[in-house]
Amino acid sequence: MNRVTVRVPAKVNLQLAVGPLRDDGYHDLVNVFHAVSIFDEVTATAETGMSVRVEGDSADQVPEDGDNLAIRAALALARHAGRSYGVSLVIHKAIPVAGGMAGGSADAAAALVACNELWGLGLPQEDLLEIAADIGSDVPFALLGGTAVGTGRGERLTSLEVSGTFHWVFALADGGLSTASVYAECDRLREATGERAAWPRASEALLAALRAGDAKALGAELANDLQPAAVMLRRSLARTLDAGREHGALGSLVSGSGPTCAFLAESESHAGELAAALRGAGVAREVITAHGPVPGPTVVQRADRT
Ligand code: C5P
Repeated sequence: MNRVTVRVPAKVNLQLAVGPLRDDGYHDLVNVFHAVSIFDEVTATAETGMSVRVEGDSADQVPEDGDNLAIRAALALARHAGRSYGVSLVIHKAIPVAGGMAGGSADAAAALVACNELWGLGLPQEDLLEIAADIGSDVPFALLGGTAVGTGRGERLTSLEVSGTFHWVFALADGGLSTASVYAECDRLREATGERAAWPRASEALLAALRAGDAKALGAELANDLQPAAVMLRRSLARTLDAGREHGALGSLVSGSGPTCAFLAESESHAGELAAALRGAGVAREVITAHGPVPGPTVVQRADRT
C-alpha cells in the first residue's frame, strides 16, 4: 500500500477563555473544542522527497513550502522515527483558510495519521499527540476530534461527554485573520481598559449543556474571549453576529481567532433556514451548515498506486 487518504474535520470553540500572557508568548487557556462536519482531505503518496500541493477552496492562500503545517507534521514524524522518509501530500481544502476553524492544524493532524500508516510506523495516538503539540496548539485536538476541553496552550486535552448532535451555521468571511495578531490585540485591549485577565475556568453550565444535549442552554453559554479583538480587527463581524441573533440563532460567536462566525441552531431544518436568512442578509462571503461533534481524522482510502 503506497497511498493513504485521510479526511479530517474543522473545529469551532464553544468556550475560549484566555488567561494572562505567559513568558513564552502563549496564553493559558480553557478551550472547549468541538469538531464539525466541514472536511479537508489529505492524500499521502510514497515518494523519495517531501512535497505538498494544495487544491480546492482558497488553495492559493495556503503555503506549499516548509511553512505548510502538513509538511511540518510529516517532517516531525520522520524525525521522531529517526528515518528520512519521503511523501507527496495533496491537500483538498474545504475548511476556510486562516478562518479560526483550525484548518492548517487539521491538515497537520491528517498528515500525521496518513504518514504513520504509509510508512508502517504504527505509532500510538499518545506519540502522535506529543508530536502534534510541537507543531501547533490546536493540532492535538485535531487528532482527537469529538468534543474536548484543552488547557495549557490548549494542548492538554480531556474528551467531553456529549449527548446527541448540534446543528451549526458558519458565516465565512473574505480573507483570514492571523491568530497571533488576534491574541496580541486581545492583550492590547486588556491593557487599554485596565482589565486583568482572570485565570481561565471551564463553564460548568456549558459542560452540563453538552452532557444533556441541550442546544438552547449551550447557545446561552457560548463564549470567546478573543471575540472583541477579532471584531476590532474586522469591524464587519459585529454586523454578521447581529444578523445571526436577529434571525433566531440560539447563540453566536466568532470561531477561535476568526473571522468565521458560528451560529447554533435548534435543529437541522432550523440551520437551513438560518443559513438562507444569513445569505439573504449579505453579511458573509459564503454561508454553510454543519453538525458536530464528529470523529477526528479517518482513513477513507488505502490504495496501491497504479
Ligand atoms: O500554537 P500556534 O502556532 O497555533 O499559535 C499561533 C499563535 O497564537 C502563537 O504564536 C501565539 O501568538 C498565539 N497563541 C497564544 N496562546 C495560545 C495559543 C496561541 O498566545 N494558547
